[in-house]
Amino acid sequence: MKEQQAYVFDAYGTLLDIHSASRQNSKLLGENASRVSDLWRRKQLEYTWLRSLMGIHVDFWEITKDALSYSLEYFEIDHENSFDELCASYLEVSCYTEVPPLLKSMKNQGQKIAILSNGSPNMIHSAVKANNLEDLFDAILSVEDVGIFKPDRKVYSLVERKLGIVPEKTNFFSSNAWDVAGASVFGFSVVWVNRFNQPAERLPGRPRLTVKNLVDWWEKEGRSRLFI
Ligand code: LAC
Repeated sequence: MKEQQAYVFDAYGTLLDIHSASRQNSKLLGENASRVSDLWRRKQLEYTWLRSLMGIHVDFWEITKDALSYSLEYFEIDHENSFDELCASYLEVSCYTEVPPLLKSMKNQGQKIAILSNGSPNMIHSAVKANNLEDLFDAILSVEDVGIFKPDRKVYSLVERKLGIVPEKTNFFSSNAWDVAGASVFGFSVVWVNRFNQPAERLPGRPRLTVKNLVDWWEKEGRSRLFI
């Protein structure tokens, strides 16, 4: 019998469009909407790494709110009008258009599909539900089970612990180049979904394959056509 593989996806930026929250609230944010979104994401990630180094963990929802608060103050945007709206939108960020048909096709082929994310269980479940994807995953794995963020190895080891699939049989997909580096070093077979056409990080760990988006991956793997 062929040993089973898992297809494990990063959530924010890979399946979920992190900038959709700011786009939905562009009237509140004004001309700086996309800059707020970029800074919000940058601070969110920095806080995960810094808190992991400091050994002072809070969940990704607290981090996301702190990063938003910093970004609104940086751009001198009134918190009172925007903070709650942006938080509410982040809980329901849209997925990328190819995600539902891709996951359905994979599910129909009997693949084992999971999410492995920094997100708190509540955040991920909320976004998955908002996009009607809840029946498609075999597991939703959150760093909250280990109390530290990616790219700590304990996070990547959750796949074997929870799904029983060894790293070399784990196909991991991320749009985040630093996550690609961490997961590759850990031993996953990594696909870099380079949605933002970025250069590779100067870090150890190389992906097995680099693609523009998940349709590009599907086609490169020589699967049947995906209808989007
Ligand atoms: C996640 C972050 C890295 O979903 O986007 O884990």
